[in-house]
Amino acid sequence: MSRKTRVNHPFPANGLALVIGASGGIGSAMVKRLGESGAFGRVIGLSRGSDPALDVTDAASIEAAAEAISEHDEDLRLVFDATGFLHDKNFQPEKTFRQLDPAHMAHAFAVNAIGPALLMKHFLPLLARDGKSVFATLSARVGSIGDNRLGGWYSYRASKAALNMLVRGASIELMRRNKQAICAALHPGTVDTDLSQPFAKKGLDVRSPDTAASDLLAVIGRLDADDSGGFIDYRGEPVPW
Ligand SMILES: NC(=O)c1ccc[n+]([C@@H]2O[C@H](COP(=O)([O-])OP(=O)(O)OC[C@H]3O[C@@H](n4cnc5c(N)ncnc54)[C@H](OP(=O)(O)O)[C@@H]3O)[C@@H](O)[C@H]2O)c1
Repeated sequence: MSRKTRVNHPFPANGLALVIGASGGIGSAMVKRLGESGAFGRVIGLSRGSDPALDVTDAASIEAAAEAISEHDEDLRLVFDATGFLHDKNFQPEKTFRQLDPAHMAHAFAVNAIGPALLMKHFLPLLARDGKSVFATLSARVGSIGDNRLGGWYSYRASKAALNMLVRGASIELMRRNKQAICAALHPGTVDTDLSQPFAKKGLDVRSPDTAASDLLAVIGRLDADDSGGFIDYRGEPVPW
């Protein structure tokens, strides 16, 4: 049966939903969408600019943020990681291996793979011990090794592929703690944000952050324990590794 036809698996009521990277295009739309959904008792957004501030390249800031979140009374049901790095004023995605630069690679791995791994380290133990709970992190289809037919974008692709492996490993360990807890990597599609803006070509299906957040929340709603460790797109379809 296609995932699209699968039923909703709701979260227990009155839980806490946390968005990390809440300042970004998809992250801010997700905070809004979660609030509108009424499915959670409390929605919190964290970012480098929030209080507490969370920088995924600063392990101490992640630990302190997790400590602050653990003090809330609600059960932590959803952690949605919308942080990520593709380009900035110093680094552009590589068009050829001749452009490989160790500082660029290190930064991409720090933000896209090691950062989310540290989020798993500190937030997976806080997920509710029974009933449905989800840790979802935004990966990218271009992180699929099997789907790479164009080359280029070495640091971004490889760091997202690393993220996918980290998710898979953590999902196995998480299952031992709570059989209904899910850890998954999601592909949001091409979404109109600062991250994609320089690269969105004509003809691509570029969706708004609001649409992406709605689609992703619907997919998260349909996830069950069998999906844990998966790499799943915004339509609920598995993405090849
Ligand atoms: N947009 C797309 O088409 C697309 C496609 C596939 C996958 N994705 C993935 O979706 C996720 C969200 O992307 P987006 O499109 O919403 O991009 P975005 O608008 O550029 O948002 C990126 C977010 O990452 C945060 N971030 C970057 N470095 C960080 C750090 N060191 N510590 C904490 N937060 C940090 C940013 O925070 P600041 O505001 O503090 O900079 C911002 O909240 C990314 O993982 C991206 O790879 C996006």
